[in-house]
Amino acid sequence: MLALSACTVHPASILHPQGAAARMEYQLFDFSLVVMTGVFLSVVIPLTYVIVRYRKRSADQPLPRQVEGSHRLEILWTVVPVILVIALAVPTVGDAFRLAAPAGPNALQITVIGHQWWWEFRYPGLGIVTADEMHLPAGQRVELTLQSADVLHSFWVPSLGGKEDTVPGQTNTMWLEADRPGTYPGQCAEFCGLSHSLMRFYVVAQTPSAFHTWAHGMRHPATTPRTPLATQGLAVFNQFGCGGCHTIDGTPAQGKVGPNLTGLGNRSVIVAGALQNNAADLTQWIHDPTAIIPGTVMPAFSGLSPQQMTALTAYLEGLK
Ligand code: CUA
Repeated sequence: MLALSACTVHPASILHPQGAAARMEYQLFDFSLVVMTGVFLSVVIPLTYVIVRYRKRSADQPLPRQVEGSHRLEILWTVVPVILVIALAVPTVGDAFRLAAPAGPNALQITVIGHQWWWEFRYPGLGIVTADEMHLPAGQRVELTLQSADVLHSFWVPSLGGKEDTVPGQTNTMWLEADRPGTYPGQCAEFCGLSHSLMRFYVVAQTPSAFHTWAHGMRHPATTPRTPLATQGLAVFNQFGCGGCHTIDGTPAQGKVGPNLTGLGNRSVIVAGALQNNAADLTQWIHDPTAIIPGTVMPAFSGLSPQQMTALTAYLEGLK
């Protein structure tokens, strides 16, 4: 069963690196694994042999001659580990510096902010603020500035690179790169409260032209309803005070507690990737958020009539 579990190709695996940072880390992992396997076998095989070969065969067998202090052996098992530690330290320290180095002038800048329990992504150069889904151009380095809005979180996209904590009151940086377009799952990797395990996100790597199309759509999203139903939905949005917690750029809604909903219709997932971005899932979320994310600060709006809910989701889904 254990061996068979290795057969799956999981998209969130450090063993299938999909970018430069992840590959560097994977090669280090591979090298350490080879060295450590060698150490393990060179200890376990002689140990097993000695245990079997020199076991006590009868009750009256006397103790063998007691010996200690072989200079040759003492030197051997001091020098060999020192060499191994140096062999592991040199590439480890080298990679640590390469991963900590600035990503370069051509890197796309993204600010990542951890919240209980969702991820916010800001593109300062592009004027975009979004959540749950981090878009980036494949084949280009992305420099991440990591911050936290509340407690410790840890940003981790296993197939694209190592994790980095988001720390309240402190700014960390890291860089990532995706070789090819694709969707790469990410996960908060630091226990951060009740719904830590649900604090997920997706990195959507796109061709440069698809990325620019996305960025353009996010910069110029619809802010006014385009159908009568959506117009009713805007009235519901205002009536229930949604703008107290959520921002929709270009409207009076400027709340900062929950995710920015500008261009919401452009996203494929909502609620930290727990739900798909469609009217049915959105309804489920608005109706009873704690059923999806236990402990969330999003209040339940169970008082909305079905008609109001239909109108509200039509308005929100139309923001694209
Ligand atoms: Cu955020 Cu765990």
